Amino acid sequence: MYPDHLGARRAGHNDRMVFWPVLPVRSSRLLLRPLTEDDVEALFAYRSMPAVCRWVPFEPMSLETVASRVRDQWRNLVLESSGDAMTLGVELLATGEVVGDVMLRLESEEHSCAEIGYVFHPAFGGKGYATEAASSLLHVAFDQLGLHRVIARLDAANEASAAVVARLGMRQEAHLVQNEWFKGEWSDELDFAMLRSEWSAPRPDGGEAPT
Ligand SMILES: CC(C)(COP(=O)(O)OP(=O)(O)OC[C@H]1O[C@@H](n2cnc3c(N)ncnc32)[C@H](O)[C@@H]1OP(=O)(O)O)[C@@H](O)C(=O)NCCC(=O)NCCS
Repeated sequence: MYPDHLGARRAGHNDRMVFWPVLPVRSSRLLLRPLTEDDVEALFAYRSMPAVCRWVPFEPMSLETVASRVRDQWRNLVLESSGDAMTLGVELLATGEVVGDVMLRLESEEHSCAEIGYVFHPAFGGKGYATEAASSLLHVAFDQLGLHRVIARLDAANEASAAVVARLGMRQEAHLVQNEWFKGEWSDELDFAMLRSEWSAPRPDGGEAPT
């Protein structure tokens, strides 16, 4: 059903490391998996909403934009160079619905650091799905890809997102004051991080580990 991923991390060309996840990742209620063209309508349903896009660095998307991203950019499942990103769909195990998507971007190959992001349909908010999916993404980053550090950058006004990273046990490292002109106003940025050693420590949520 999904591409056959053979290994999490293996040597690429010219002795460079290629970070290659083992998918899908299952947690208690969710499946993190590659996106397919069948997901376009579900992704469009929330990525087209202005309220969903208020704190993220993109504008509401058209159906055509979503379809072209699924065909092109979001097909990538390998992190090789700084700036490479993978976007995965979040499917409800119970119904098979796609309720959101998560993103892992290699921030620095040299420093073994990646950034996470997440976008969910508001109809499925308030159930802990974003936290559960982001936890699965940390599992990919640390347990599968062996990365050293994961960061999350968010607008200080995005309280729902700050609550997600807090539930994950990420540490706030910085509050940048009016560092960006974002969607018509100066905005503050909060920077959160987690080290692999912190991820390996007992979970704050005591939750079941993704597999
Ligand atoms: C950021 C975003 C994903 C957060 O969504 P969310 O629904 O608040 O987060 P979760 O899915 O983790 O749900 C957490 C809520 O579910 C509740 N919950 C219910 N059952 C739960 C469970 N089993 N486990 C954990 N939390 C649970 C929590 O108590 C919390 O409730 P609260 O909001 O009243 O405190 C969502 O607002 C969104 O998609 N925003 C638009 C895109 C965006 O801003 N992305 C982030 C950019 S940095």
